[in-house]
Amino acid sequence: MGFMEKIWDIAKADLQTIVLPEGEEERTLIASGEINEKSLAKLVLLGNEGIIKSKAKQLGANIEGIEIVNPETAPKLEEYADELYRMRKHKGMTFEKALKVVKDPLYFGTMMLQMGDVDGMVSGAIHTTGDLLRPGLQIVKTAPGSSIVSGFFVMMVPNCEYGENGLLVFADCAVNPNPTAEQLASIAVTTAETAKKLCGIDPRVAMLSFSTMGSADHELVEKVRKATEIAKKFRPDLKIDGEMQLDAAIDPSVAALKAPNSNVAGKANVLVFPDLQTGNIGYKLVQRFAKAEAIGPVCQGFSKAINDLSRGCSANDIVNVVAITAVQAQKGI
Ligand code: ACO
Repeated sequence: MGFMEKIWDIAKADLQTIVLPEGEEERTLIASGEINEKSLAKLVLLGNEGIIKSKAKQLGANIEGIEIVNPETAPKLEEYADELYRMRKHKGMTFEKALKVVKDPLYFGTMMLQMGDVDGMVSGAIHTTGDLLRPGLQIVKTAPGSSIVSGFFVMMVPNCEYGENGLLVFADCAVNPNPTAEQLASIAVTTAETAKKLCGIDPRVAMLSFSTMGSADHELVEKVRKATEIAKKFRPDLKIDGEMQLDAAIDPSVAALKAPNSNVAGKANVLVFPDLQTGNIGYKLVQRFAKAEAIGPVCQGFSKAINDLSRGCSANDIVNVVAITAVQAQKGI
């Protein structure tokens, strides 16, 4: 059974309620019909009921039984605005402004999540990553034990002996342009937990750099070295090591030469990149050149499950991201 089939089965076993703020968008509607028929999650679509129903009919999407909420006229508008005002007044938010802001479907969906009316949120088919993440970062915030939200990919490389028979988890590939050493340490620990809970693997985390165990000296290397120390000190129970080059991380023969005493080198299945440029370029290199399946970006570190879609996503991608979000909501990832 493939990784996504396993995720679907876990999602079906304990149905979570996921809000889709882009309820009038066509790929979202097609995906909603499929999620409904497969019973992967309960859905709430945000938008105008008339528009949603007539578009769904045109597209042949069976959205029967799915709740539709219009943020412009929802009965809970004032309650959400009041809570948003309470949470953000120290940042200059007024009640009047909150009442206006909360009509934005992304803020409305985030407030539904925050208030416990849904278990997860998926959006981004027509919004940028920043548009989606900002309300989440401002309102839902980070989970206990995690100082930062980041984005991981589950990479499945065909015919590959590295990682877990070709399965590796990469982070951060989506959120933090230039994390500090402390933030990088938090990303490493969170990604180890994600690999354990979502992929069911024993995580071996490599902190990537252009240097292996002191072979080069530079402030960029120093950041990764410091992050490794912090992560190891914070979670001595986890296998985290670095700094190391990619070949030393995944290839046992290179590891034997460059990092013979490491419990991670040569067998890493979680790769933590030093910044967003390397993380984002890195996953795309593997995806394109090795024809790997890249599942993500999936957000981690939020106190509740929120995920972003690529604006180029297909309806099938939305189905998969909703299933992953449901599993994250179940397992508190
Ligand atoms: N984790 C937790 N909290 C955060 C994080 C984070 N990673 N980043 C920002 N915050 C918090 C801040 O503390 C602040 O909270 P406060 O308002 O309560 O004080 C709030 O979020 C807003 O912070 P800003 O610094 O103003 O955040 P900004 O609006 O500049 O943007 C964002 C944050 C959207 C995540 C930005 O860093 C970003 O755009 N990152 C890159 C995203 C991207 O383009 N990725 C590549 C595409 S994805 C792909 O290709 C797969």
